[in-house]
Amino acid sequence: MIHAVSFADGRCSYRNRWVLPQTEHALGKANTHAIFHAGSLMALEEAHPPVALAPSTLTRSGASYPSGPFTAHPKHDPLTGELVFFGYAANGLGSRAVRCGALDRSGYLSWETRFEAPFSSMIHDAAVTLRHFALPVFPLVRESVETFSFAWRPDLGSYLAVLERGGSGDTVRWYEAPTVYAFHIANAWEDQERLYFDLFVYDTPPLFPGPDGQPPSQKQGRPCRWSVALNDHAPVRVESLHDMCGEFGRIDDRLAGSQYDQIYCTSRIYSQQSGFQAIARLDLRKGTVDQFDFGRQASVSEPVFVPRYSCARPDDGWLLSVIWRPDFSSSCVAVFDAARVANGPVASVILPQRVPDGFHGSFVPDVLLAGELSR
Ligand SMILES: [Fe+2]
Repeated sequence: MIHAVSFADGRCSYRNRWVLPQTEHALGKANTHAIFHAGSLMALEEAHPPVALAPSTLTRSGASYPSGPFTAHPKHDPLTGELVFFGYAANGLGSRAVRCGALDRSGYLSWETRFEAPFSSMIHDAAVTLRHFALPVFPLVRESVETFSFAWRPDLGSYLAVLERGGSGDTVRWYEAPTVYAFHIANAWEDQERLYFDLFVYDTPPLFPGPDGQPPSQKQGRPCRWSVALNDHAPVRVESLHDMCGEFGRIDDRLAGSQYDQIYCTSRIYSQQSGFQAIARLDLRKGTVDQFDFGRQASVSEPVFVPRYSCARPDDGWLLSVIWRPDFSSSCVAVFDAARVANGPVASVILPQRVPDGFHGSFVPDVLLAGELSR
């Protein structure tokens, strides 16, 4: 189910709609992220192609996308307007093939290539800089070619693929990486010598068992910076960014692919609880965290940054997050001043019904909606 909250003329409205993608052979999925590109909202799930929706109605639009698996975390390049994507198991379930490519600002395929990963694994997110595409391959491997089932195999190790954007898969370079797990990469950039990216790292993946059925660990995600030299093959270098427990790191998307100073994320305050109870702002320059705790029972979703206006300075804007508050039997959209998270929300939009925990979302400014695809 896709949920939309619209802000206009001092009022908010809410709508939701099922997304039931029909693929050639079976019912697909589109339950992970929704982003806006080339006039359409793309509902995304990593094992299937995107589903195109009209943002104002959430009904299917006529836009079409390349067939095959397509990550739920494609990356917008704010300089070129491209959307860089990848898909794992690109030659079918259990295959080691990875494809990566880009859609141009009009939605047309402008780059596509393939390479083979060391094993078939779940790859949730990638790093994209001005010139490079980098893909961590963690040993969360497919256990069955018939079902979407994965197990943690630390004996296989982790690797990082680095490829020039627009380049051939034959030229991919591989680096050894720490045997840990991460779902999400907050941002990436490069200088003359190195490529850097920031991610929330777990010692073992929190949602998946070992091959012997051992239950998943409850280890917590910590923000780390990984980097590699672009002109040699030395293993990934790791730097800790903070000892907080966080997930769902988002940034001011205007800085995607560039150096930046703030990660906005969810934070786990109560270690015995699952999920996340707080919104946090991690200041990378100062190494500090400001956060606001919604209470032990609350369930807090990914914060989305909205610039105060299109050319506002970085960090000058709002954070939007859907919060479930069982103590109030309601869901709301909390609006924070992004630079003052610890002060708590400056506004809350009470929603007319519960919005169950989801994964990701996007803000689409009305200036982009004016170009909504109507075909
Ligand atoms: Fe995700």
